Amino acid sequence: MKNRSLVSINDYSREEIIKILDLAEEFEKNPRQSILNGKVIASLFFEPSTRTRLSFESAVQQLGGSIVGFSSAATSSVQKGETLKDTILTVCSYSDLIVMRHPVDGAARWASEVSSVPIINAGDGANQHPTQCLLDLYSIRKTQGTLDNLDIVFVGDLKYGRTVHSLTIALSLFNTRFHLVSPLELKLPSAVKSHIKEAKLSYEQYTDFAEAIPKADIIYMTRIQRERFPDPLDYEKVKNAYILNNSMLEGTKDNLRVLHPLPRVNEISEDVDSNPKAYYFQQALNGVYVRQALISSIMGLK
Ligand code: CP
Repeated sequence: MKNRSLVSINDYSREEIIKILDLAEEFEKNPRQSILNGKVIASLFFEPSTRTRLSFESAVQQLGGSIVGFSSAATSSVQKGETLKDTILTVCSYSDLIVMRHPVDGAARWASEVSSVPIINAGDGANQHPTQCLLDLYSIRKTQGTLDNLDIVFVGDLKYGRTVHSLTIALSLFNTRFHLVSPLELKLPSAVKSHIKEAKLSYEQYTDFAEAIPKADIIYMTRIQRERFPDPLDYEKVKNAYILNNSMLEGTKDNLRVLHPLPRVNEISEDVDSNPKAYYFQQALNGVYVRQALISSIMGLK
């Protein structure tokens, strides 16, 4: 992993994923270490973020590193017409590693091809979100004791949800049984399903959420991605397609945990938050440890 960009979760093997998760466990026990002293990490967010940007920045600062960057394209020279290539060619001379979120699918790959320092993809359009995937895997392993042979129920916007794409591809390495709940218009893209098929695993597709719930070890709720719809009227038709409430968790498996990459809009009722099966805020915290593991591996410090 040393000096390699992380653009897509496909860039990592099963063994490399497990290595990051094991290292994240070590950081969870001891998140404050001075291993990044003197290192500068650039945080370039061309799209809004709370968890990804702040957990990366917290991860770096707890390890003694420094952060430069911007949280919006509006405050960078992109606003004046600068290209992504010129931005990256400039910022890579100011930093040891670049964390980048961008609204265009493939932007992280393009950046990695011109950068002299590694790029970590913090989300590119509707394509991939590989660091979210790693923290999702960490959360699944932590709550289930394993990543293998689980029934994972994905719910919501499986078409535009980049976290679902990355996590489906990764879970195809772990003998998962996939249950895909979405409106017909928002089904998982064929290119992502091909990873399930190549791994010779099964998946079932549903429009009725209730049908899938009793099977779940993990329910992975997602927001309908309003900003990705070409036509706002199409968003209006599906925006409240699935809403999980507490009563729907009655009679579910004891080991079931509810995950969500967040932010939520209204797809999980607030009455679920106090249910012991709700795990989404702990999931967001796990992002700090996983990102510490990732940065220290890429920088060759662990
Ligand atoms: N999960 C996630 O990517 O959240 P943010 O958009 O707040 O970073």
